[in-house]
Amino acid sequence: MTAQQDHTSAARKPSPGPVGRLAEYRTFLTSAVRNPREVGAATPTSAAVAATVAQVVPTTGTPVVLELGPGTGSLSGGIHERLPAGARHIGIELVDEMVEHLRAHAPWMELVHGDAGDLVPLLAERGVDRVDAVISSIPWSLLPDDEQDRVLGEVTKVLAPHGAFTALTYLPAEHNPGGKRFRTRLATTFDEVLTHTTWRNFPPILHYICRRPLH
Ligand SMILES: C[S@@+](CC[C@H](N)C(=O)[O-])C[C@H]1O[C@@H](n2cnc3c(N)ncnc32)[C@H](O)[C@@H]1O
Repeated sequence: MTAQQDHTSAARKPSPGPVGRLAEYRTFLTSAVRNPREVGAATPTSAAVAATVAQVVPTTGTPVVLELGPGTGSLSGGIHERLPAGARHIGIELVDEMVEHLRAHAPWMELVHGDAGDLVPLLAERGVDRVDAVISSIPWSLLPDDEQDRVLGEVTKVLAPHGAFTALTYLPAEHNPGGKRFRTRLATTFDEVLTHTTWRNFPPILHYICRRPLH
């Protein structure tokens, strides 16, 4: 595809292969060195994390799934493969190098180069005002209070009543001030907050799976 990319889930993702994996790690590390606060990690998350994350993705109907901070796409392939035909997979990514990498390696994703804190207007430009799942791996525990509020506030404006919001943090970050603030914020924002730990990642990943925004 050239003039118009096929972003539907029917455009299946090819496996990256060893050369693709090398390019992925190189992009990730370069981006992390140049943008340490935004990227908040040195390597992409593991396949085990991706497999767990994908479970919140609806497999029927024509859902819209929003990924915040897709990075080099380590979670994106699993999300995309689960989506039924006609679904939309929209990613919002801030960092230039990551965006370039995704455009080259994940052309099936509807990619927006922008800030997750502006997700409502960014989705509105694409005719979307409801999403069925939000999967976020932006570095929540490094965000100041007002940024955590801003992004979560935007998420609750678009999440469908039956929708799920997933946030990933490193397990050790749960004990940092930013990690503690985030956990408290989730508890006051959602009626249901479940947690799951994926140990097959370094460091281990804590998943928050949240449903039913309270306001
Ligand atoms: C920890 S990395 C996770 C990348 C990838 N999803 C993974 O699991 O390997 C965080 C990603 O969020 C992106 N990011 C950080 N703040 C963002 C924001 N406000 N809006 C959109 N993307 C953001 C970073 O550029 C980076 O790609």
